Amino acid sequence: MSVPREKFLSNVWRDGIFKDKVLFCTGGAGTICSMQVRAFVALGGNACITGRNKEKTEAGAADIATVRPGAKVVGVVADVRDIKAMDAAVKRCVDELGSLDFAIAGAAGNFLAPMSQLSSNAFKTVMDIDAIGSYNTAKATLPYLMESAKKHKNISPASPSGTGGRLAFISATFHYRGQPLQAHVAAAKAAVDQISHSVSIEYGPFGITSNVITPGPIGGTEGMARLAASDETSVRRSKMGVPVGRWGEVKEISDAMVYLFSDAGSYVNGATLVVDGGSWRTSGSGGEGSAWRYPDFLLSGGEVTGVGGGKKAKL
Ligand code: COA
Repeated sequence: MSVPREKFLSNVWRDGIFKDKVLFCTGGAGTICSMQVRAFVALGGNACITGRNKEKTEAGAADIATVRPGAKVVGVVADVRDIKAMDAAVKRCVDELGSLDFAIAGAAGNFLAPMSQLSSNAFKTVMDIDAIGSYNTAKATLPYLMESAKKHKNISPASPSGTGGRLAFISATFHYRGQPLQAHVAAAKAAVDQISHSVSIEYGPFGITSNVITPGPIGGTEGMARLAASDETSVRRSKMGVPVGRWGEVKEISDAMVYLFSDAGSYVNGATLVVDGGSWRTSGSGGEGSAWRYPDFLLSGGEVTGVGGGKKAKL
C-alpha cells in the first residue's frame, strides 16, 4: 500500500536526518506506529518492527520498506509480554541492521468494558501488554540505546553524526481525569508514563532521553474503531468535544516522534507530549450524546456493542 507522504509526515522535516540509524518499534504494524516507522524510514533510517501476528508484522515491514529505495525494515514476531522474546527480537534487529539507536514502546491492547464485566484476567491482560510490555521494551533496548547515545552524543551544537539513544512510549490520557469503561487501560497507561519518567531519570546521565507521546482521538485507527461509536451522530459529537474541532491524523503523531528523536528535541527528557487537540481538558467521551453515556450506561448493566474488540468476559 503506497501512502502519500503528506499522510504520514508534515512537510517541515529534512530528508536524511535519520540516515543509517535504526528504530526498534513494538506494535509496529499498527495504524499509529506503522506511520511513525514509515516517517522514520522516509527520513533515512532503517527499522525493526515487532508484533504477535506473523503475517501482519512481516507484510507491514515489507510495505514500510517501499517508502524509500534501499530501506531495510525487518518484521519480527514477538510478544511484548515475554522478555526472552523481546531480547531475541532486539538481538535480531541489531544483527540484521547493525545497531539500535531509537525505540518506540508502541504495542497496546484496549477494549471498552465496565469493571462489572472486566474479569481479573482481562485487567491483567492489558496490564501485561501495556505496562509490562513497555517495561520489557525498555529493558531489552536500553543496553543498545546506551551504546548509540555514547556514539551520538546529546550535545549542543548537535553532534555531527546526528542523534541516538532515544526512547518514546505511546500512552493515553484516560488516567488524567478518569474515564468509565477504561479501568484497565487507565491503570496500565499510568504505569507506562511512570516507566518513561524513571528511564529519563536513571538513564539521562548515560545520554538517553525518554519521553511519552500521548495521542488523543486519531481518525482511521484501530484504537478509534475499538473505542468510539462509528454512527454519524456520535462521530460529530465526538469531534465537537475536541477544542480544535476535529480528530487528529496519524501524521500528527509521527511529527511528535520526529521532533523528539531529532536534534530539535535534544533537551526534552522526562516529558509527556500530548497530541490530542486539547481533548482531555474537556469532558470527552462518556458524556452527553455518547453511546455509553455516564452514568446511565453503567446503571443499565448493558454490554458494550458496536465497536471493535468486543468479547464477553468469563467472569
Ligand atoms: N470485554 C471484556 N473482557 C474482554 C474483552 C472485552 N471486550 N476482550 C477481551 N476480554 C477478556 C477476555 O474475556 C479474557 O478474560 P477471561 O479469560 O477472564 O475471559 C481476557 O480479556 C484476555 O483475552 P484474550 O482474548 O485471551 O487476550 P489476548 O492476549 O488474545 O488479546 C486483547 C488481548 C484482549 C487486549 C485484544 O483485544 C488484543 O489483542 N488487542 C490488541 C490490539 C489493540 O487492542 N489495539 C488497541 C490500540 S488502542
